[in-house]
Amino acid sequence: MTPNHRIHLCLAKMSPTGEEQKYIQEAFDTNWVAPLGPNVDAFEKALEEYIGNDRHVVALSSCTAAIHLALLLVGVKPGDEVLCQSMSFCASTNPVTYCGARPVLVDSDKETWNMSPELLETAIKDRIAKTGRKPKAIIVVDLYGMPAHWEAIEGISKRYEIQVIEDAANALGSTYKGQPCGTFGDIATLSFNGNKMITTSGGGAVICKDEATKKCAIFLATQAKEPYLHYEHETIGFNYRMSNISAGIGRGQMTVLEDHVRHHKHVHELYRELLKDVTVQENPNADYDSNFWLTTVLFKKAFDTEAFCLELDKMGIEARPLWKPMHLQPVYKDAPAYVNGVSESLFKRGICLPSGPWVTEEDVKYIVDCLNYFGK
Ligand SMILES: Cc1ncc(COP(=O)(O)O)c(C=O)c1O
Repeated sequence: MTPNHRIHLCLAKMSPTGEEQKYIQEAFDTNWVAPLGPNVDAFEKALEEYIGNDRHVVALSSCTAAIHLALLLVGVKPGDEVLCQSMSFCASTNPVTYCGARPVLVDSDKETWNMSPELLETAIKDRIAKTGRKPKAIIVVDLYGMPAHWEAIEGISKRYEIQVIEDAANALGSTYKGQPCGTFGDIATLSFNGNKMITTSGGGAVICKDEATKKCAIFLATQAKEPYLHYEHETIGFNYRMSNISAGIGRGQMTVLEDHVRHHKHVHELYRELLKDVTVQENPNADYDSNFWLTTVLFKKAFDTEAFCLELDKMGIEARPLWKPMHLQPVYKDAPAYVNGVSESLFKRGICLPSGPWVTEEDVKYIVDCLNYFGK
């Protein structure tokens, strides 16, 4: 019962017409082999058109870099506290420590698996009571492509006047109440790593609400050079810009983004149809339209998801346990945490299934057969 190919979670897939190659060739022909150039400008423009809402995009080397810059742009300083979604990849939280700030971890709600609005408010009140200061920012994730409960979260952020960073690394193509992910909160980030909705091999972007913030992001991402011919620096900057070659891949990938979104949703629908004894994560209601970057399933009881994924691996299937919450990670054992058991239960019961553009209907049927074979 082994397929003749390995079924990956989400492997990069280039456009059938080779658009990426054309833009890369153009960069070589014009010798724009640098961390700036026409592909970078055009990729940013294509993203701005796609997400709309008058947003201003800066292409960067990764989403991790984008989150770091977003934190600096909302004014996070050493010693500040930043509220972070515990249930996520470490890159949603680690940049807080790059700023010398302190992550405060907040658990998830059962519907979206993203930051619980109720716990967020509890955490804000408690941090103010304990430290006498408001947390400086909130990082909320659209995990696995599922939008967070943005109405409630934006309401809380306005009430307490705390800025929100949307980590939309997984959520390009998702919407909440018809509004695209990447446009919520005060500033947002995207990832174009090799396993995302589209790729630039490695890359990310920060999405700003105005041109001034975009300029500031570019300034910080290019070593904070003051406007002199000699190199003058008044601020610590970073080397975070995207290369013109990577952006060429991104430009080509934009031509297949909608196809990819459709494919991920189709794969999710098939799993939903065929899987009987497990819970497939679904949009909680009509407000949510996830791109289903990864289809995720929950089993009835806690079990050894690690060992199970290793068994699936032997059958040619790449599956992965759900993210281990940050409040259970040794590296964040001392971080204050506001927990309700949701993310811990998800981690102990859930896995991600192959969902990317190479996954065929036959692959899905085979994966479902394998799950059934294990009695799952
Ligand atoms: C939720 C989330 N945030 C941030 C990142 C980091 O993205 P990058 O690899 O582009 O730095 C990832 C990557 O998987 C992610 O899943």
